[in-house]
Amino acid sequence: MLNLVLFGPPGAGKGTQSEKLIDKYKLIHLSTGDILRSEISLGTELGLEAKKLMDQGLLVPDEVVIGMISNKLDSNKDANGFIFDGFPRTVAQAEALDSLLVTKSSSISGMIALVVNDEELEKRLLNRGKASGRPDDANPEIIRKRIVEYNSKTAPVANYYKDQNKFTSINGIGTVDEIFSSICTVVDTF
Ligand code: AP5
Repeated sequence: MLNLVLFGPPGAGKGTQSEKLIDKYKLIHLSTGDILRSEISLGTELGLEAKKLMDQGLLVPDEVVIGMISNKLDSNKDANGFIFDGFPRTVAQAEALDSLLVTKSSSISGMIALVVNDEELEKRLLNRGKASGRPDDANPEIIRKRIVEYNSKTAPVANYYKDQNKFTSINGIGTVDEIFSSICTVVDTF
């Protein structure tokens, strides 16, 4: 199985690149942000609780997202592999993911981190917020809070994969196709 963690701050291009990667490598895209937004649009209790945190740019509790990923792994037993986008976002989530994959005789092939500076992230997210109405893209203050949350809780997850020699970072600035090509060069070594 090919199991990729696509990593990077809000607006780094994880979702954009995941769409291209699932097509090329025939993988299942698991985005915890997308799953949470789907719960919100269905009006579930989980969605309503998550929305309060997401709208403030804060992380949803680990047990909630770990449970969601566990369900998705169980319901895609025949998959060639997965792209994890926006997950794991804490070291506890990374450890839980390893445990879940072990039960399926599998493991993470590698983490690829997209590196983009804060100014570019803010510009991309404000533009997307204007077009999509996504509430957590609506103003610079919430975007900055998401970046602070990323730097304090999520950035340390990179060390978890560096310690296992499973970490590669690539430049996330350039055209979507240029970045995709850099990612594929790395994925083809897994
Ligand atoms: P989530 O949905 O995961 O949001 P995020 O990490 O903030 O990432 P984004 O979707 O904003 O950015 P992206 O890197 O996917 O970039 P994209 O390709 O869209 O999470 C939202 C919230 O849910 C979190 O804040 C948290 O509350 C909660 N949550 C989710 N997962 C969780 C977890 N595991 N634990 C706890 N809480 C969790 O691109 C962004 C924009 O840039 C687009 O408009 C795109 O068109 C544009 N763009 C992309 N590539 C380029 C390029 N090369 N050049 C120019 N523009 C580009």
